[in-house]
Amino acid sequence: MNYISDRATRVAPSGIRKFFDLLSRMEGVISLGVGEPDYTTPWHIRESAIYSIEKGMTMYTSNSGMPELRQELSLFLQKMYGLNYDPVGDILITVGVSEALDLAMRAILNPDDEVIMADPHYVAYDASVMLAEGVPVLVPTYESNNFEITAADIESCITNRTKAILLGYPSNPTGAVLARKQLEQIAEVARRHKLLVISDEIYSRLVYGVEHTCFAELPDMKEQTVFLGGFSKTYAMTGWRIGFAAGNKAIIAAMTKIHQYTIMSAPTIAQVAAIEALKSGEKDIMEMVADYDRRRKFIVKGLREIGLPCFEPRGAFYAFPSIKSTGLTSEEFSEQLLMEEKVAVVQGTAFGPSGEGYIRCCYATSLADIEEALVRMRRFVEKHRQ
Ligand SMILES: Cc1ncc(COP(=O)(O)O)c(C=O)c1O
Repeated sequence: MNYISDRATRVAPSGIRKFFDLLSRMEGVISLGVGEPDYTTPWHIRESAIYSIEKGMTMYTSNSGMPELRQELSLFLQKMYGLNYDPVGDILITVGVSEALDLAMRAILNPDDEVIMADPHYVAYDASVMLAEGVPVLVPTYESNNFEITAADIESCITNRTKAILLGYPSNPTGAVLARKQLEQIAEVARRHKLLVISDEIYSRLVYGVEHTCFAELPDMKEQTVFLGGFSKTYAMTGWRIGFAAGNKAIIAAMTKIHQYTIMSAPTIAQVAAIEALKSGEKDIMEMVADYDRRRKFIVKGLREIGLPCFEPRGAFYAFPSIKSTGLTSEEFSEQLLMEEKVAVVQGTAFGPSGEGYIRCCYATSLADIEEALVRMRRFVEKHRQ
């Protein structure tokens, strides 16, 4: 008897995790694999959570999240992007952007509705659409075009089943950012075709020498955008599992209904920590971003010197070099690099078919480790280059 639903069967396990199960059994591996900061959450944020436990804050919160957190977030979004989100009704606190993404898809999609997204893309994008019985429509993006998804390419994919455009910028895995002008062109297409835009901006604060434009701040787009953001990457808080969705009241209410029955409320302790992060975390962000930027420059230069052409990432903490000159597929490259040189990277195809010929290297790790990884990669590339 097969008890597994078609829905669960259709979705492939994450190509990242498969690899890291293997890695966890090996010694001496340098990992440029998992996409998370190597920092521990800043002390004042941890301390606020400890105090909340001492004070006995151990109960559920409101389904939507603690009023104080929604209030702080609303102020923050106003200050950063000039956006006015009502803390009551426009904001939902979630278990990371992961949950917010799942809720958004389940709240908006009917079976076979289509969602347009860039390829390569974050691993959960197509999966979350499929788990909501929708159909992901992949728009290939290319290094020659800075891995940018264009309004024209999006428009060419629109059918009478298209419900939404899912954007993720700065991009995981490529590090590409989208400039205001391109976003405006995408907004124009969304407006004309009345498409919802789900905008995952979890890396919005991790940009280097460029400005981040929030999609919802574009003219007339606030009501038509579900803005997803989080604390995992910005404040080195991956394990706390806290994120948010902001958008129009009808969509946030539908998402809250699903959240109510599946999650109830995001972890209370983590919500207290998130309040502290918003109130006093700015200095930490500045320090971490400056540090990521040093590592970004170092790894991009190093990869290019090895002979792996590397697109210059302007956001997030990933480099996405081409490995085409080795003649290996991205899966062969990453598996053999791990086995022969004990360096873990992620094959580009874990992020969709357009990732073939590329690998993702996360540089949120120490400069010393990046340096050693580059030495090992050079040896590997020299051995395999055709
Ligand atoms: C683009 C993107 N969106 C969402 C997430 C999920 O983040 P969270 O920890 O908030 O669930 C990640 C994590 O890697 C990501 O890279």
